[in-house]
Amino acid sequence: MSFVFQYQSSLREIIIGLLAVSAAQRTAKMRQLQVAVVGAGAAGLCAARHILARPDTFAPPVVYELTEHVGGTWFYEERTGNYENGLPIHSSMYKNLRTNLPKEVMMFPDFPFDSELPSFLPHKEVQRYLERYCQCHLITPHIRFSTVVEEVRPVTEETERGVISTWEVTSRDKSGSQNTKTFDSVFICSGHYSDPYIPSIPGIEHFKGRVIHSHSYRHSEPFSGQSVVVLGAGASGLDISLELGRSSAKVTLSHAKPTLPFPLPYGIQQAAPVVEVLADGSLRFQDGAITQAQILLLCTGYKFSYPFLTPAQLGLEIHDHLVTPLYKFLMPPAFPSLFIIGICKIICPFPQFHCQTLFSLAVLEGSVTLPSQAEMEEEAVKEMESKVERGVKPQHMLKLDKDQWSYAQTLAQNGKFPPLPPVTQSLYEEVGRQRQVHPENYKQINYRLVSDTQWEQQDRPAAI
Ligand SMILES: Cc1cc2nc3c(=O)[nH]c(=O)nc-3n(C[C@H](O)[C@H](O)[C@H](O)COP(=O)(O)OP(=O)(O)OC[C@H]3O[C@@H](n4cnc5c(N)ncnc54)[C@H](O)[C@@H]3O)c2cc1C
Ligand SMILES: NC(=O)c1ccc[n+]([C@@H]2O[C@H](COP(=O)([O-])OP(=O)(O)OC[C@H]3O[C@@H](n4cnc5c(N)ncnc54)[C@H](OP(=O)(O)O)[C@@H]3O)[C@@H](O)[C@H]2O)c1
Repeated sequence: MSFVFQYQSSLREIIIGLLAVSAAQRTAKMRQLQVAVVGAGAAGLCAARHILARPDTFAPPVVYELTEHVGGTWFYEERTGNYENGLPIHSSMYKNLRTNLPKEVMMFPDFPFDSELPSFLPHKEVQRYLERYCQCHLITPHIRFSTVVEEVRPVTEETERGVISTWEVTSRDKSGSQNTKTFDSVFICSGHYSDPYIPSIPGIEHFKGRVIHSHSYRHSEPFSGQSVVVLGAGASGLDISLELGRSSAKVTLSHAKPTLPFPLPYGIQQAAPVVEVLADGSLRFQDGAITQAQILLLCTGYKFSYPFLTPAQLGLEIHDHLVTPLYKFLMPPAFPSLFIIGICKIICPFPQFHCQTLFSLAVLEGSVTLPSQAEMEEEAVKEMESKVERGVKPQHMLKLDKDQWSYAQTLAQNGKFPPLPPVTQSLYEEVGRQRQVHPENYKQINYRLVSDTQWEQQDRPAAI
């Protein structure tokens, strides 16, 4: 069974082979859809869990995972650099990281965290949660560990019924042997916080100290007593600056945002962005100020990187901070059986993976009728154009933030599955407010979900 794209006069209609066929008829008449999942982090596990829950339509998925474990980002690696096989270390996790979302908001909507745990968790508890999710949903037997996906290639065939599209997934296992397998659909769940974005800073070769990226930051002790310029004030820049400050490093948080709206602890000062390194090795900030530093710590974020895709084949453009056009931030309009789960930023990741997965499966099952390719392209392009008109910078095009709730609602409506409970948004927004006022100690607060619409703050001390 494959996907059939049928052209009718000027309208390109996508007719999915399964459409209008009941589950019972399908079992009797057709083979199940074969789906590949690239990555066994939170997104890949979510995709696998829901595929496995629909045996009438889907064969068990093949989940390819380049490491020896599940968890992706949440699997803490003390090592930096490369694995034994030469591939770069995937996780950007650091030793003392706690979640910046409470577990009540962060969880998959159908799989709560342990109720005994505090709201803001050390990374190892998120890793345990994902391992439990994997065990409870019997996903492990379907994961090919230590197997890297090297190529995902569409194969299209013109037939009397229209254009049939399948996918060839080429992978390489630990022994070095290559394997190519054909699927009806592919879920790309490879994450996008692994490949460091390194801004171009003129004169950087003159810098006499160490330059590192937050991807390779693990703990603050080595920086104790040192002068560190942290470039970028996203979640990593701010959180790592606070850690370094507690380790008695002399920290300059250099960024292009307006002055942060809260006081920073003693030992951390703010500065304009670093724009140049002078011939004597000193750092020049945008406002002309100059400083010397032993460490330049780049907390400048990450690039989108899908080395196994050929963008032109898919009608996509893949830039450092933008992948476009994607219908519903999910699929290339020309190939609506390829789903990139979790590409958006400034979101509640696990709940969004859940909604995107259920919507994507509804597309494959045929219960969502997709517009024509041209209409999907137009919608995706208009979305980007309206952001440009609103003054959104090119590198922020895939940031959803407040729009994530209406987006999740639309996916649920179209995909005909229960929407996220309103309490998720309400608590997410409360935590956002607390973070702005108390960036150092908002993670000490504990919450409890009272109902689908209500949460309350708890007084009990954190259990860990
Ligand atoms: C430092 C840091 C802190 C964060 N803190 C929070 C937080 O507090 N709360 C929150 O909700 N989110 C947080 N996030 C966001 C986090 O990325 C998501 O929670 C989530 O882990 C993303 O899951 P994912 O499955 O999309 O990607 P990942 O977790 O990155 O998993 C991708 C998986 O794909 C595998 N893979 C990649 N390429 C290939 C390939 N070619 N072949 C086979 N396998 C491949 C990788 O090995 C990995 O296992 C944080 C992110 C970072 C970097
Ligand atoms: N649980 C936690 O406490 C925690 C801690 C760390 C990270 N995280 C998560 O990890 C993910 C990645 O976060 P991140 O902070 O690493 O990446 P990020 O959110 O992309 O932030 C990178 C920051 O660097 C800035 N930047 C890039 N180049 C710059 C330059 N040349 N000069 C000045 N500033 C520059 C960016 O500004 P522009 O956007 O304006 O370009 C942006 O503010 C997020 O999901 C985050 O929530 C969570």
